[in-house]
Amino acid sequence: HTVYVPRDAAALSVGADETAAAIRAEATRRGIPLRIVRNGSRGMLWLETLVEVETPEGRVAYGPVMAEDVPGLFDAGFLDGADHALAHGLTEKIPYFAKQERLTFARCGIIDPLSVEDYRLHGGFRGLERALAMTPAEIVTEVTESGLRGRGGAGFPTGIKWNTVLNAKADQKYICCNADEGDSGTFADRMIMEGDPFCLIEGMTIAAIAVGATEGYIYIRSEYPHAVATMREAIRLAYDEKWLGDEIHGTGHRFHLDVRVGAGAYICGEETSMLESLEGKRGTVRAKPPLPALEGLFGKPTIVNNVLSLTSVPIILDKGANHYRDFGVGRSRGTLAFQLAGNIRRGGIVEKAFGVTLHELLYEFGGGTITGRPIRAVQAGGPLGAYLPPSLFELPKDYEAFAAVEAMVGHGGIVVFDDSVDMARQARFAMEFCAAESCGKCTPCRIGAVRGVEVMDRIIAGEKVAANITLLNDLCEVMTDGSLCAMGGMTPIPVRSALKHFPEDFTRSPAAVA
Ligand code: NAI
Ligand code: SF4
Repeated sequence: HTVYVPRDAAALSVGADETAAAIRAEATRRGIPLRIVRNGSRGMLWLETLVEVETPEGRVAYGPVMAEDVPGLFDAGFLDGADHALAHGLTEKIPYFAKQERLTFARCGIIDPLSVEDYRLHGGFRGLERALAMTPAEIVTEVTESGLRGRGGAGFPTGIKWNTVLNAKADQKYICCNADEGDSGTFADRMIMEGDPFCLIEGMTIAAIAVGATEGYIYIRSEYPHAVATMREAIRLAYDEKWLGDEIHGTGHRFHLDVRVGAGAYICGEETSMLESLEGKRGTVRAKPPLPALEGLFGKPTIVNNVLSLTSVPIILDKGANHYRDFGVGRSRGTLAFQLAGNIRRGGIVEKAFGVTLHELLYEFGGGTITGRPIRAVQAGGPLGAYLPPSLFELPKDYEAFAAVEAMVGHGGIVVFDDSVDMARQARFAMEFCAAESCGKCTPCRIGAVRGVEVMDRIIAGEKVAANITLLNDLCEVMTDGSLCAMGGMTPIPVRSALKHFPEDFTRSPAAVA
């Protein structure tokens, strides 16, 4: 019998290690030979710990399985896929999973993350093998034609960024993977690093060959210790197998890769702060230009890409640009891993082609709120993203369609609120977050955010509400136009969207009504 118990941090947080130990102990007690594979997560987080058993028909899912459920599962015959109160049938037939389009996350939750053999068996290294037989320009063209855009949030065309680095003349170039994933409600970078780490290594190696870089770093936030450990072990195995090192599979290509751990600053997810931090300095924002593509790490041409941009590259090289760009709408091609979080019944990862609506994500996948109350607002695209009301839930997920309503798709995070939310307090939170996380380099953000909290406090207390809302709008304009980076420049987005879509929350304090 083969049983799968995830080793993903989300599963560990609800007792996956204890569940795995209980399964091992129960099998020993009953004298049943058993192989336990610690896989990544399938991304159906409300079912964690999701235990799967191999049957001739496929893997059968049980969840959420706590250690105390294990004896009962054995009694019911779960090792043969028998029915049980926690059984969900074949994992891949669970509607939440079956309705997805998994390209980037195709292997996540399926393979043993630290088995090179498993990775190969499931299509791993095929993209890199193809890239090794191509010229750098051909690889860059393939990525450009796939339509892939930066998955960190800004949506800049990945192939064009690579082309800038390819054409830069330098004795040294770098590939830096941004795994600082600071957005609220996001966890896709973490999930793929823990569930399919070789995919990131493969994507970075392809990027290196494409632009002539020989060194790379993965900058992982310190809050992700499991991702750090998994990536480090996967890198070691990749060196052993000669997928990294001085002679990648005897081709003469050289690429060295290492992990660096952040120290807990949100701003180190901004690419130039991340580069400062990688150089061993305090993470403050650099003015652009020069672009990192021309003068990045240690002043050398550098690709800075998000985890999901780089993990989308192997399948693009393996299956071809057209296969990837056939998914999606308009200028938003391929798929994105949407992350459902906050007050939602079925939280987790939904990888879907662009064009899916918020309504489908929130109700068909998410099943509405966990409190059972109506959804009043969602914040899409992280703490700097807009708050959207139900009247915009039919909007397709598409960079341009979202930008047209002053919202953003961002890194795909969606945080859900029911009708008990106070949007004036959420607007205050945006300013408070910016005040806490500002790097302090420019005035509109460093001081503006502090003043923003004070103005919001007066509005919430009902003091001269109309005048303070005018002041708040002025402040937002200054921060938008005058900030050096997206931190201060985008903090007004959640504030303004709350004001626009939920104005009643700003004028309802007893003092304001009086
Ligand atoms: P940006 O629009 O300034 O730049 C996007 C990328 O394109 C950068 O890497 C930039 O260097 C590159 N670029 C621009 N022109 C180029 C050219 N001609 N050649 C080569 N490269 C070029 O956006 P920025 O400030 O890097 O990111 C802002 C975004 O970050 C926001 O939209 C937000 O969604 C996202 N974000 C994501 C977070 C996360 O946890 N994933 C956290 C906070 C913000
Ligand atoms: Fe630093 Fe804020 Fe200015 Fe960005 S906007 S450079 S975080 S002070």
